[in-house]
Amino acid sequence: MSFPDGFLWGGAIAANQTEGAWNVDGKGPSVADVAMYRPKLDPKDYAAHHAVSTASIEAALADPDGTYYPKRRGIDFYHRYPEDLALFAELGLKVLRVSIAWTRLYPTGEETEPNEAGIAYYQALFTEMRRLGIEPLVTLSHYESPVALSVKYNGWADRRVVELFTRFTLTCFERFGSLVNRWLTFNEIDSVMRHPFTSAGIIPENCPDGVQAACYAALHHQYLASAIATEQCHRLIPGSQVGCMLTKLTTYPRTCAPEDVAATQHKNLDNLWFGDVHVFGEYPRLMLADIARKGVTLPIEPGDEDILRSHPVDFVSFSYYQSSTESVDPDAERTPGNTILGVKNPYLPSSEWGWQIDAVGFRISLIELYDRYRKPLFVVENGIGAIDQVTEQGEIHDPYRIAYFREHFTQMKQAVDEGVELLGYTSWGTIDLISASSSQITKRYGFIHVDQDDLGAGTGARRRKDSFWWYQKVIATNGEEL
Ligand code: BG6
Repeated sequence: MSFPDGFLWGGAIAANQTEGAWNVDGKGPSVADVAMYRPKLDPKDYAAHHAVSTASIEAALADPDGTYYPKRRGIDFYHRYPEDLALFAELGLKVLRVSIAWTRLYPTGEETEPNEAGIAYYQALFTEMRRLGIEPLVTLSHYESPVALSVKYNGWADRRVVELFTRFTLTCFERFGSLVNRWLTFNEIDSVMRHPFTSAGIIPENCPDGVQAACYAALHHQYLASAIATEQCHRLIPGSQVGCMLTKLTTYPRTCAPEDVAATQHKNLDNLWFGDVHVFGEYPRLMLADIARKGVTLPIEPGDEDILRSHPVDFVSFSYYQSSTESVDPDAERTPGNTILGVKNPYLPSSEWGWQIDAVGFRISLIELYDRYRKPLFVVENGIGAIDQVTEQGEIHDPYRIAYFREHFTQMKQAVDEGVELLGYTSWGTIDLISASSSQITKRYGFIHVDQDDLGAGTGARRRKDSFWWYQKVIATNGEEL
């Protein structure tokens, strides 16, 4: 068993969770910059987790301090990227997944010309990555829509945002095309249904037909934008590849009672349908029936279906953190996962945040996705959020992180051996960063520690954890030494 030559071992981060410098060099505010620090919120209460209103946005933008808006400071990657990239190169990364903050190029989303300071920053970033031999894998939208578009149009619920976004993507391909060959369109596009503001800039109080209808409208608009961006990319950058990005939420039946199995089947389809649109270029019949049953009409206009059909993605990328189970028993014990609440699986351990650790589920997911789509896969997020301790000597011993990755890599290797075509793997949060859901930094994912606490105190110094040396060896041996 072995990974193919040229397997892309890497890391993944996102602009809104690392760059900071939220209002520097002409950058405008994005939805992430008004996301409040919520460490103590009950993780089972996702509605409160993603609560947002016009008033809360106004209050956030008027806050002169920003202590409680950690994504505004990130880990200061904007200024420290040369040091961080040098560490990534030392780690041996072949690829680094980053995103481009839309509001660094188009501060409100509506300008007709891009902000040249933003262009210069990303050109410098990608040039340095190339110099170090690290290939950029770039996400065009990772929870970074302009706040101005939320206020004015209710975000992606409004079709006009498609044109504004594809103006931004065109700029990206024109200005960064000589440095970036592989692109992802929307991070976890399915998450529009779980956190509408973060993923689609939707403010619930501004949805006259209900939040659910606004979410489906936003989803359709993102599919269109994704297909249009795919066309632009292929036209402007010969030989380029575009992938979709999905949250893989693998669910098992809690028991083998047929009712549990049927409920589980629906749950899994309701996750897979989102990928189907990108790959097959059309909404699956079952998904359309499901949406209709909910009383929602998709805002499909003449010509839309042609656009979706004409520009499917080249590869399928996804995140995988945990599995969960499903049951029709209303009293079944539940536990959180990545913005979901699943039924607890008694056979699995959990992270400190209750996410159930399931390496075999990773293999199951790889096989399921490859068999369904027959397109190359790319794992672009996987990892464990944990509390790390720094010893007096400044060391970070994180055997739990090494164990998590070792088990997942073993299963990934087996999936490749069983025939799955896998382009690469980027661990999530290769360096500690701000959590998407809670805005904590103390939920640490990295191989590299950042000396910073949740409220921003600390030197910002970077330190290699034990797992750094372990992952370095894994990459150096192309996954042979786990
Ligand atoms: C993924 C997101 O869903 O999960 C990332 O794409 C996020 O942005 C990651 O950081 C982990 O979630 P969290 O809430 O622990 O940061």
